[in-house]
Amino acid sequence: MSYFRENIEKMAGYEPGFQPKDPEVVKLNTNENPYPASPEVLRAIKNITAEQLRRYPAPAADAFRDAAAEILGLSAENIICVNGGDELLNMAVRAFCDENHPLAYPVPTYSLYPVLAKMQNCPAIEIPFDNEFNLPAKLVSAEAVLTIVCNPNAPSGTVIPKEELAQLAEELKGKSVLLIDEAYVDFAEETCVELVKKYENVIILRSMSKGYSLAGLRFGFGIANESLIKGLNKVKDSYNADAIAIAAATAAIKDQGYFKKNIEKIKKERKRLTGQLTDLGFEVYPSRANFLFAKYTKQRAMDIYEKLKGKNIYVRYWAYPDIKDKLRITVGTAEQNDKLINALKEIISQAG
Ligand SMILES: Cc1ncc(COP(=O)(O)O)c(C=O)c1O
Repeated sequence: MSYFRENIEKMAGYEPGFQPKDPEVVKLNTNENPYPASPEVLRAIKNITAEQLRRYPAPAADAFRDAAAEILGLSAENIICVNGGDELLNMAVRAFCDENHPLAYPVPTYSLYPVLAKMQNCPAIEIPFDNEFNLPAKLVSAEAVLTIVCNPNAPSGTVIPKEELAQLAEELKGKSVLLIDEAYVDFAEETCVELVKKYENVIILRSMSKGYSLAGLRFGFGIANESLIKGLNKVKDSYNADAIAIAAATAAIKDQGYFKKNIEKIKKERKRLTGQLTDLGFEVYPSRANFLFAKYTKQRAMDIYEKLKGKNIYVRYWAYPDIKDKLRITVGTAEQNDKLINALKEIISQAG
């Protein structure tokens, strides 16, 4: 006997990356930012008053919306604040999809998308990327009501040019919402934000977890035209973002100077780590995110993952057929990356 709906009973839940308890480990498995958030964030949290906690928070997180709108050159009405980008994905699937209204996305990609489809009991149409992670043409003919493209894509780190996503939005007009998951865009060279001005069917997802070092806080936002934002608001919990998160995320996004310096440091390390992994014989996809997707053919990726774990270095590995020969490695600090490279040198030389 189960009390759950049949689809919930049958499905497996999303499996988050391992969170080791020991703070000393080299943790390169969940794409967190290796550097701390702006000092302005801690200041904002310290300044929270008991009165702010006694009262419910601002339902639309107005302070953040105003700050983000100014930075993005949009209006606050184009922004919806969420309890982490994952909440926006969840809201979009609930708002647009059901048994007769499918979700479509290219694969491999963020493994939360199929889990959300199963929860909603809607068909998930998975269109394979080619080997270079180009945008699959078949997304248009999938006849979904919600199409998600993760850009930069996880776990590949690769990007699809804005012009191609604009073309996709055009082709999907009147048929499907195009949600562009830009959780990692802070590390890329271009964003698709301006598409929301031209296309009434585009939603952009942003996260404060990666570029702004706030994964522990839970804050993200969606960007779209007013009408989509209004509709999404109907499925939003009234107080989805708490008073502390609103104050902290607002302080973080206002400190653009700190943010940009932090991003540059990660991009520099990304380049160095790509070179070092390539020298060791890994094939590394061109990444515009804060992680690298690296293929190794002389030893099983799973064995390397296990051996790294034995040395207290955590990267991400999936035993799925299309990606089981690859590891996803978050770009860490220079010191963490050096530890990873030294460990890999040892692992590879022992095997050889
Ligand atoms: C592709 C992608 N989208 C969205 C998210 C959601 O991030 P958050 O809920 O931390 O904002 C993640 C988190 O790992 C992600 O990898």
